Amino acid sequence: MDFAGTLLNWYNDNKRPLAFRATTDPYKIWLSEIILQQTRVEQGMPYYHSFTNAYPTIVDLANAHEDAVIRLWQGLGYYSRARNLHQTAKIVANQYGGKFPSTYTEIAQLKGIGPYTAGAIASIAFGEKAAAVDGNVYRFLARYFGIETPAPSEKARKEFTAIVLDLMGNAHPGTFNQALIEFGALQCKPQSPACLLCPFNSSCYALAKGRVNELPVKNKMAARRTRYFNYFIIKNDKQLLLQQRTAKDIWQQLYEFPLVETKEPHP
Ligand code: ADE
Repeated sequence: MDFAGTLLNWYNDNKRPLAFRATTDPYKIWLSEIILQQTRVEQGMPYYHSFTNAYPTIVDLANAHEDAVIRLWQGLGYYSRARNLHQTAKIVANQYGGKFPSTYTEIAQLKGIGPYTAGAIASIAFGEKAAAVDGNVYRFLARYFGIETPAPSEKARKEFTAIVLDLMGNAHPGTFNQALIEFGALQCKPQSPACLLCPFNSSCYALAKGRVNELPVKNKMAARRTRYFNYFIIKNDKQLLLQQRTAKDIWQQLYEFPLVETKEPHP
């Protein structure tokens, strides 16, 4: 059987019954993809449900107050995702008459939507032949074909996009992309992938060469630095002093106790 057939069979037998897989509403697919960036499915699903309950349509989301959207996002982190989500909902409501744009090219122009998310929405909601290469897809294909191009990079994005479109053939683009993502998430996992039970184990480059743990090649992460925030809890009987972070820094627009940042930890 060819690659797509093997993958789609695996997907049929193993896919998780996730709520956003039971819809072709581009708003809900977009919402799920934004939530699932940098967030695991188990952690993200409760947020998907609370958003779709609070805001059943993109126009409902557009009409919400930004504070309410941020509050619902609380706990997910990377709050710029929530602000972009809200701004994009307003643009779709006001400039597109509440109807989500339906082509990859238009979708990719919306705020907070990169090539991966545009490809996911265009393929899943509209059946357009577009690739959706996330970390899961990248890991699986880098191992399977023995590709050493480091990601994230524009070079890797182009290379993997071409491979995905080729492998996809005439399969349904949305189903094929979700199958690739799910395969990377459940089977070709970052640590201890289940190679013994893998339907691709007779043709996988990394397995044959004993290089499963070396692939994919990662770009060096931005250097981490430790910062010291000394918070002051200032209160009277009824009130607690908070400030909003406005500087171009972490946690923009979130609230916090007043603080002094120091170069060393407080003794
Ligand atoms: N992570 C991001 N998008 C996903 C999807 N469509 N299915 C499963 N996991 C995902």
